[in-house]
Amino acid sequence: MAESLKILSIASEMVPFIKTGGLADVAGVLPLEFQRQGHMVICILPKYADLNLSRHTVEEVFQSLSVWMGDREERCSVFKVVEKGLAVYLIEYHGFFSRAGLYHDPSFNDYQDNPARFGFFTRAALELAKRLGFKPDIVHCHDWQTALAPAYLKTWHKDDPLLGGAASVLTIHNATYQGVYPRSWYGYLGLPQEAFNPDAFECFGGINFLKGGIAYADAVNTVSPNYAREIATPNSPSGLAPYVSNKGQAFRGILNGVDYTIWNPEQDKKIAATYSATDMGGKALCKAALQKRCLLREDPATILLGVVGRFSEQKGYALLAACIERALASMALQFVILGSGDPGLENFFRDLPARYPGRVGSWIGYDDGLSHGIEAGADLFLMPSLFEPCGLNQLYSLRYGTLPLVRATGGLEDTVEQYDEGSGKGTGFKFTDPTPDALYYTIGWAVSTWYDRPQHWKAMVEAAMSRRFSWENSLSHYLDLFEVAKNKKN
Ligand code: ADP
Ligand code: GLC
Repeated sequence: MAESLKILSIASEMVPFIKTGGLADVAGVLPLEFQRQGHMVICILPKYADLNLSRHTVEEVFQSLSVWMGDREERCSVFKVVEKGLAVYLIEYHGFFSRAGLYHDPSFNDYQDNPARFGFFTRAALELAKRLGFKPDIVHCHDWQTALAPAYLKTWHKDDPLLGGAASVLTIHNATYQGVYPRSWYGYLGLPQEAFNPDAFECFGGINFLKGGIAYADAVNTVSPNYAREIATPNSPSGLAPYVSNKGQAFRGILNGVDYTIWNPEQDKKIAATYSATDMGGKALCKAALQKRCLLREDPATILLGVVGRFSEQKGYALLAACIERALASMALQFVILGSGDPGLENFFRDLPARYPGRVGSWIGYDDGLSHGIEAGADLFLMPSLFEPCGLNQLYSLRYGTLPLVRATGGLEDTVEQYDEGSGKGTGFKFTDPTPDALYYTIGWAVSTWYDRPQHWKAMVEAAMSRRFSWENSLSHYLDLFEVAKNKKN
């Protein structure tokens, strides 16, 4: 094996403890995979009130850890849990983390003190590494929430015997959320004045966590090759093109993998019946169970379309809201929709089942079990995203033989192979224009394939179920990038 690395992973969410989206899946599984390959990893997470610790023994490690934020000394406690042999440290600070949710209140209003909360968490994570005597080769941080780590390393810990040698890698899971806040927080964050410049943290007079993170990190990646190209394209909407392009070879797109111990229809305990590509009987039972649970007409012959996701602008569900009734009026299909977020979309999808009894089921909220049920029980999985850095649900859908219908953007473009009506090859259906019409006609294309070309559908399901997006493959790309980061650092 190549040299064994010491990796410090800092993230704001992580399965199995807390999750709002795919970041948690990745920040949870990647460290385990590194560890499995013989690297030494420790993870650090805020001790949110909502953490799911029911299966873990929680041990207090430090009652009081001192963390300087600007000229103010904060004190936090540190706890430890072990997940599959991996040490996960939890930073407890009641003023910041003992409230509902992660980033916003139950009405989806962002917490105003988020810059202080996550700046503090990141700074505390580095202090903790020192206190533990952990000397990382790589500090791996994720998204804007922990993007200050590279700058803290290069300023406060530059000459530190433990942290001074660490190279930093920033993974961008979503370039739209950049953590932009008023300048008034700068003093508390304790960043040096010279870092407040347009090439680093300054952004239209405010502070931009992600932009500063990109500037200071030794290497940066995003979560698919196509999304990396998209955000590096001049004038891309995120505005980050010049900064990521500046990184040269130290900016890459590395596709996410899937944790197939969790997302596998052959052994998934959250679905009505297991199944495999060679024995699909269980999938029919899953469809029947889903139809029953969602009060749909129990009919194996009618195509069932599934949706699972955050109702945020990114996911393109407004396109679906604009064409779903046209589809229901003109096609023989059923829908199951699971998600939460935008109140307008929540109301719209919540009300649909009453207007289309037996044809539409919706559940507004977060439900892990139902998300597995939809992956297994639906025939077609919709992801009309306006943009999508990687997307995990289409990868899960492929494995469950539930063909994805996606907009050809970001990681969706990289991972779904367009259906070819001539040969019957492909693993899903893709459209390009971000319009209700384009989505409507692509739904029509998929629905007609289901009814009129069942042999093609069957071949596509087989092809889809055979595809693997393993972490092993992605891990080798991460290790290459870590190497680049270490060389840049030296
Ligand atoms: P994003 O991280 O942008 O939300 P991904 O496709 O990468 O998108 O990951 C989303 C993850 O969150 C998937 O594992 C998906 O199943 C899960 N998820 C999203 N919304 C819900 C929900 N309402 N209930 C259960 N799981 C959800
Ligand atoms: C983000 C992106 C999603 C990606 C996930 C994990 O939340 O929106 O596309 O799959 O992070 O990297």
